[in-house]
Amino acid sequence: MDLLKGIEERRSTRAFLERPVEREKIETLINYATQAPSAINLQPWELIVVSGEEKRRLSRILVKRMKERNISCGPGAKSPLPEYFVERQRGLLDTILPNLPEQTPFQDFINEGSCNFYGAPTAIIITLDQVFSSARLTDIGVLVGYFVLAAHALELGTCPIGLITAFDDDIKEALSIRDEKQVVIGVAVGYRDPHSPINRSRSERVPIGDVVKWRE
Ligand SMILES: Cc1cc2nc3c(=O)[nH]c(=O)nc-3n(C[C@H](O)[C@H](O)[C@H](O)COP(=O)(O)O)c2cc1C
Repeated sequence: MDLLKGIEERRSTRAFLERPVEREKIETLINYATQAPSAINLQPWELIVVSGEEKRRLSRILVKRMKERNISCGPGAKSPLPEYFVERQRGLLDTILPNLPEQTPFQDFINEGSCNFYGAPTAIIITLDQVFSSARLTDIGVLVGYFVLAAHALELGTCPIGLITAFDDDIKEALSIRDEKQVVIGVAVGYRDPHSPINRSRSERVPIGDVVKWRE
């Protein structure tokens, strides 16, 4: 697949077929994703591939914790967001709302969906060794970018799931992840449900003039 076409086409998937993703396909995907550059080629990431009963068990734990602790998806801001960020957030809401299952509040759909990896058969948990400073989170971000694009080229849908970082301890316990690792992000992976209206939602981007400053 042409790289630029893939970049343009890709959007997050929030409804998946039950069809499991073949292990070889996940291996191929990870082989591509881990071609991502990283500082000093440290490749500071570790990926835990969770599927089958383990994935269902993990989802049950996360949904339960999310409800117990009233955790909700948010921008991770230190203070109130300036209006132009709020506007972008509202833009996403407007694209998703018309395609939500009837009577499902947006926040419930996102919170429960995220903890359930939107029903994807595979969840990837990406960790960073705590020996690193937050500077290495950038490397994980680059990896996730490669991951979602490679998945798209392999005809798989993905959704990055940041919400799960609120449950770092629960995830580590459930998956026997060593204490020195930090859960940075999850990614839902599976075959897109072509009939689900939610997958028709297509988020937009602001014109580059809004995010670029030129100095000449
Ligand atoms: C770091 C990161 C964390 C995210 N966390 C979540 C999440 O917890 N739940 C969710 O539904 N989507 C999550 N997303 C997906 C974004 O909402 C999505 O990428 C954004 O709205 C742009 O839409 P697109 O991926 O369809 O282009 C996350 C994306 C990123 C990059």
